[in-house]
Amino acid sequence: MKRKLIILTDPGQDQAAAILMILGAPEEFDVIGLVATAGNIGLDHTIRNCLKLLELAERTDIPVYSGCPRPILRDLVMAEHVHGPTGLDGPDLPEPVTKPAAEHGVEFLIRTLRESPTGQITICSLSPLTNLAMALVQAPDIAPRIKEIVAMAGAYFEVGNITPTAEFNVYVDPEAADIVFRSGIPLTLLPLDVTHQMLTTPDRLSAMRGIQNRCGVAVAEMLEFSQEFDLEKYGWDGAPLHGPCVPAFLLRPELFEGRLASVVVETGSPLTMGMTVADWWNITDRPKNAFYVRDGDPEAYYRLLQECLVRLP
Ligand code: BDR
Repeated sequence: MKRKLIILTDPGQDQAAAILMILGAPEEFDVIGLVATAGNIGLDHTIRNCLKLLELAERTDIPVYSGCPRPILRDLVMAEHVHGPTGLDGPDLPEPVTKPAAEHGVEFLIRTLRESPTGQITICSLSPLTNLAMALVQAPDIAPRIKEIVAMAGAYFEVGNITPTAEFNVYVDPEAADIVFRSGIPLTLLPLDVTHQMLTTPDRLSAMRGIQNRCGVAVAEMLEFSQEFDLEKYGWDGAPLHGPCVPAFLLRPELFEGRLASVVVETGSPLTMGMTVADWWNITDRPKNAFYVRDGDPEAYYRLLQECLVRLP
């Protein structure tokens, strides 16, 4: 049976790659909707970018819902320095002609989860967790209805990318992450510890370009743009490709290794705000609330991404 997905997202080039990867696996995934989130860039841009991507992939049957314009407590921190002023710089994609749905993203989450049989919907989170947290606060009854949450979020062994100790998606809205991590919903985290193994080497990018369909070429152009900041920062052979780790894990969990652990979000200390403290060695008796992925197979990951992109227009 197809896995029903709701995607929380703030595209962003790596989110774009993840969304297109999902759309390139239509036998496996049934996408019920995208909730545009404020994160990498402001909400106006992330809504527009979601619409552009669905038009690119000829999947305008999938609705896009607008989420909250800012994190729960804090001012929005964005990553324009990585993703460019539109959040999706790189290819010259046409302005979208489609519009977002009228319903708010938080209402969409609550309504859809209440209307669907328990344990059917997977939340695929590629962004800060603001809208899911808001839905859980407003309607706690939806928690047991969610099959699982698989999120690109956090870092422990690789520490931070937006501060020395925090990963961007958690740092932007630590209170939201805290609510979600404590929700009791089955949770898998794809943190920097694994995404930093998935590098956009020149060979991998040219393979994407070589697909010669418009989605493959667009993804290659996006990643060529967004990798610049990380190439300079880390000095590696390529930049980490974060978002597609989520669909790759859903499609082929055997490509990844991790363990069930307690993961708690720092929401108090200004120095380590948004740090995800993983009890990897089981030192405490805190509840093990997340499957924390630490390693993955980069070759198989890029092959899988390629296999999905090939199937798109
Ligand atoms: C996350 O931060 C964002 O800038 C990326 O798009 C990704 O979601 C990685 O920490």
